[in-house]
Amino acid sequence: MMQTESIKVWDPLVRIFHWSLVLFFAVAYISGESDLDTVHAWAGYIIAGLITFRLIWGIIGTKHARFSGFVYRPAVIKQYLKSLLSRHPKHYIGHNPAGGAMVIIMLLMLIVLSWTGLLTYAAEGKGPLADGSPITISSAYADDDWGDWKNWGDSDRKHKGDDFWEDIHELTANLMLLLIALHLGGVLISSLLHGENLPRAMITGRKKLRSEDEQH
Ligand code: HEM
Ligand code: HEM
Repeated sequence: MMQTESIKVWDPLVRIFHWSLVLFFAVAYISGESDLDTVHAWAGYIIAGLITFRLIWGIIGTKHARFSGFVYRPAVIKQYLKSLLSRHPKHYIGHNPAGGAMVIIMLLMLIVLSWTGLLTYAAEGKGPLADGSPITISSAYADDDWGDWKNWGDSDRKHKGDDFWEDIHELTANLMLLLIALHLGGVLISSLLHGENLPRAMITGRKKLRSEDEQH
């Protein structure tokens, strides 16, 4: 038997969501940088599906999976960040206020990333939003001629929005890398200051219960 009492925090779906996201993000990033368009599009579709699931689970899911449980006011987030400097931050059973904010920012960035990926693909005439598919999105063909005078007067509508959305898609992918670096830094700092292994908690779903923890 275990010496210390542990408490269930992350349900199996949150854990499967997290580690699938890690896997498919790596596949999408690497295939995006190479010429593996089909692999890339499928990894992207899977990520879009994972995010859709997480948005729903954030509303109807288990206690610590729900947004209402880890979205805090900016003042509370600031206070938590300050308390890190004192090296005695308050312990949270679910996401701490800074981690919770990071989760929301990452989810939003992944939405923009998947959407601009779909628009880039559509501008190349491929994917579910392409011209001629049941759900054509005309903004995929955004006119980026203003920065591209060489193509002035080009009537080939299919490729017009291509560079425009691809540029934003690439920018978002790189911003996402930055967020992931901050995410990993946050997980590391929080793990050290609280003396607990957060990555392991995301695998087993359990954390050790502290005397200071409020059971709300
Ligand atoms: C091997 C690298 C990674 C490790 C060790 C890791 C670790 C963790 C841990 C420990 C948590 C829970 C934080 C807490 O206790 O409050 C978490 C949450 C999260 N991480 Fe990661 N992470 C990694 C990579 C990534 C990547 C690449 C992404 C995005 C593509 C990501 C997105 C998220 C999201 C969205 C959550 C929120 C989980 C939820 O509530 O559904 N992580 N991660
Ligand atoms: C959500 C996770 C995704 C990540 C991390 C990601 C990442 C990337 C990266 C790093 C590039 C290379 C940019 C460059 O260097 O020019 C790229 C390009 C591209 N992505 Fe994505 N992407 C994602 C989703 C999608 C989706 C859902 C689609 C559409 C089905 C898509 C379609 C494209 C297209 C068409 C390109 C242009 C490059 C090419 O044609 O090979 N992406 N992506």
